[in-house]
Amino acid sequence: MIINVPAEGAIGVEFLEVDLRTVTPEIAALIKDQVYRHKLAVFRGQTLSKTEYIELARALGRPQIYFQKNYHHPDHPEIFVSSNVPENGRKVGVSGTGRYWHSDYQFDPEPLPLTMLYPQVLPSSKRETYYIDMRRVYEALPADLLAYVDATRAIHDAKWRYKVTADDIDRAVVDILAEVARMVPPIAHPAVIEHPVTGRRALYISSGFSAGIEGLSHEENKRVMDRLFAFIEQEAHVHVHTWKEGDILLWDNRTLIHRASDTPAGERSSSYRIGIYDGFPFYTAPSRVSVPEAVPCLA
Ligand SMILES: [Fe+2]
Repeated sequence: MIINVPAEGAIGVEFLEVDLRTVTPEIAALIKDQVYRHKLAVFRGQTLSKTEYIELARALGRPQIYFQKNYHHPDHPEIFVSSNVPENGRKVGVSGTGRYWHSDYQFDPEPLPLTMLYPQVLPSSKRETYYIDMRRVYEALPADLLAYVDATRAIHDAKWRYKVTADDIDRAVVDILAEVARMVPPIAHPAVIEHPVTGRRALYISSGFSAGIEGLSHEENKRVMDRLFAFIEQEAHVHVHTWKEGDILLWDNRTLIHRASDTPAGERSSSYRIGIYDGFPFYTAPSRVSVPEAVPCLA
């Protein structure tokens, strides 16, 4: 096994010549240690079957069963399928997922610690996934923005990202939205979280799911969130992974937000995702740390 660690301050550790079919507890611990350190791991040259892929997830933790069945692989509910490629003549999973900045399951009381992604069909032009290191963003936040997120909670709401299913035909949008709100009501998490393994802090908001900071007016939230998202999503913060055949990615949702690239019209794309609970709480909530004189001053 060859492990190429990233440059200081960068994310993404690369594993070469690793056999992911035979992951001992020691190797699983090493992989997770590398992921917590470097936030994202790339395993090159993999050819796992579906059952081998699920076994790999089990070696790393507890595979998630996603709350909406229409995303499941028909034979393996642990596999969340993002695909526009039919399997055995059937539509499988959902196409065009995750094309907005987010952390997986951020809208849930128990967000997803680790995500593993294994493309099955790559578009013929190119496919990329984009990441932002929210620890780095937190550490660089201007004082006026830090004052808004320090020891506060952010509200996350998944309803605008709901993808209608075949069962929604003939239903009114208002009824669909009411049902989604019952299924996944908005939830608050600390706006800054502390990693349970590394103890490091990261900003935990995303333009895909985060509706605002608890306690602010609608107007103030609009101003604050627009500025936060603009600061977070600046190009200098974005790490690009360009997929190669045989890549498997594993990343830490406690420190990264991510976004999928669009699939060009007419091209095929299929990916198998497995969410993994690693046995640690998602976060510990940090106490107030910012300088006391940092007063919100957004006009
Ligand atoms: Fe995602």
